[in-house]
Amino acid sequence: MKVIIARDSDDAARMAADIIEAAVREYPECTLGLATGSSPVGMYKELARRCKDEGLDFSKVHSVNLDEYVGLDGTHEQSYRFFMNDNLFDHINIDKTNTYVAKGTGDIQENLKEFNDILDKTDIRIQVLGVGPDGHLGFNEPGDTLYDGAHEETLDDSTIEANKRFFASKDEVPTRAVTMGMGNIMRAQSLLMIIGGNKEEAARRLLIEDKIDPRCPATFMRLHRDATVIIEKELADRIGYGG
Ligand code: GLP
Repeated sequence: MKVIIARDSDDAARMAADIIEAAVREYPECTLGLATGSSPVGMYKELARRCKDEGLDFSKVHSVNLDEYVGLDGTHEQSYRFFMNDNLFDHINIDKTNTYVAKGTGDIQENLKEFNDILDKTDIRIQVLGVGPDGHLGFNEPGDTLYDGAHEETLDDSTIEANKRFFASKDEVPTRAVTMGMGNIMRAQSLLMIIGGNKEEAARRLLIEDKIDPRCPATFMRLHRDATVIIEKELADRIGYGG
């Protein structure tokens, strides 16, 4: 696993954007696996800037997102479809019909079938990842068992707690979500994680401990042949990681 220490969140965003840009320039028709949450927001801003100012071309790029809340329609401001439009798709020249965020409303089993069918046919060039404070990837929550394909998860209280900052109150945070499985994530050609802020526990387990533990799904990144973690220096210092 390659680990890059970024000076700060802007530096992390630029370095992550460099990696995405290189892939898009080399493979203009590639599929990007995308993530929500605050970690990739700076990178999305930077990619939008490069699209506008430097001609970075997304017109043939496809994308598939990690996850979506169950119960939120794509027009809901906290849905991940809305997030992606708002933070990236509305600001780059991607064809929105080539972007896929699983549906969180309607018949969930049908939605999962569609999600799995798409994943089976898709070769993800780079999967962007954030990480939950408990080490979840997408919405693969810690537990005895992790899942291979796209499935529905009940969110842990710590995840609901962590994500309530985006909602008016904790009660409004959905308790279920659909997510790519760990197998889908691990089958991406490369993984790109951005980690900073208060993620000491996840960062320590990912970067320092030598354990692959389903109780910290992020540790599975260590098994991937082409995984890059961009960690902000402040967090690296806090966990005593020097590279
Ligand atoms: C949510 C998403 C994850 C994301 C996590 C961390 O739970 N489902 O994919 O990695 O938030 O978000 P943040 O980057 O805001 O810390």
